[in-house]
Amino acid sequence: MLIDIIAGARPNFMKIAPIIEELRAIKAKGVNVDYRLVHTGQHYDRAMSGNFFEQLGIPHPDINLEVGSGTQAQQTARIMERYESVLLENPAHLCMVVGDVTSTMACSIAAKKLNISVAHVEGGIRSGDMTMPEEVNRMVTDSITDYFFTTSETANANLRKSGVADNRIFFVGNTMIDTLLKNMSRLEKPEIWGKEKLQSQKYYTLTLHRPANVDDEKSLKGLIEEISKGAEELPVIFPVHPRTAKNLEKIGVDYPNIIMTEPMGYLQFIYLVKNTRAVITDSGGITEEATVLGVPCMTLRDSTERPETVTVGTNELLGIKPEAVGPAFERLKRGEWKKGEIPELWDGKTAQRIVEHILNLYNLY
Ligand code: UD1
Repeated sequence: MLIDIIAGARPNFMKIAPIIEELRAIKAKGVNVDYRLVHTGQHYDRAMSGNFFEQLGIPHPDINLEVGSGTQAQQTARIMERYESVLLENPAHLCMVVGDVTSTMACSIAAKKLNISVAHVEGGIRSGDMTMPEEVNRMVTDSITDYFFTTSETANANLRKSGVADNRIFFVGNTMIDTLLKNMSRLEKPEIWGKEKLQSQKYYTLTLHRPANVDDEKSLKGLIEEISKGAEELPVIFPVHPRTAKNLEKIGVDYPNIIMTEPMGYLQFIYLVKNTRAVITDSGGITEEATVLGVPCMTLRDSTERPETVTVGTNELLGIKPEAVGPAFERLKRGEWKKGEIPELWDGKTAQRIVEHILNLYNLY
């Protein structure tokens, strides 16, 4: 049996790493299962892609579609066209996609149209915000997915509500957390640590890349200004995503306590998050990592597709208006931030469960 594992953008890489490791282990035991790693090339910079392969020990992709950047439709079209050619030449039995990026949606469509089954890791999550490209990607992907590997009961409920039968839903946990737990003893100080003489709990960590926050100059400037004020004398370490960098260049942000850096490698970024006073972010994945690390997390979004990070974890949704930032910092400084717990099945064994289910589904024992 041949499984295509699809990865395209930064948040995909930590999700596929443990699945590939598990598949290799099963194959080494003589089970008739093989995989082909397909990198779409949606992210291509070393800092956004190559670095993660090296640090997480992900094997070199078998195929790189090299689609590069473009509008949503351009990227989707290029990925579909190129992945379809791959499948026409050498079809897989199952196409496994992860997360909610454009590569996830595009490959699932190309596969399904060739009658190849689709498995969606992190299926079923919904923000309810149709202005996010990711929400469209999630809904389209899930509408043609055969097997859903889910991270939460909320995702299961969303799928049932949309008519998916229980025997196609597999509640397995979170592969991003498999990677997090596995790498805790390998974390590395980022370069900025020594350069800025950082001390544990005496700095904040900021990431911003959502179009709603970074494409509008006024909103981007307003948010950074309030974060700078809220942090007071403590530095805010801000690894800047390429999309955000382009806009920051235009508006020329300059606050002494906002320290901008290049995007970091996985082992360095998690080191930073683990030791920070709090994270301020508009990412989804980072809210999950902060939850498991027990680090206070302020999310600059109006909605989340990962509600368990709020109801169970350390995350709180502040919205995208700059005026919400100050009061949140005040609560944090008063020691009033919730402690949080770890969501069900986020235990480091998710990839193992996924592969077991696949072996059962395809009678591969
Ligand atoms: C994508 C995902 C988003 C994910 C994010 C993580 C979609 C719709 N969005 O957003 O869900 O949270 O990745 O990073 O799939 N660029 C580079 N180098 C790269 C990649 C991108 O410079 O290696 C620049 C390009 O100018 C590009 C822009 O970043 O136009 C945006 O990249 P894109 O892949 O379109 O979306 P992201 O904002 O990265």
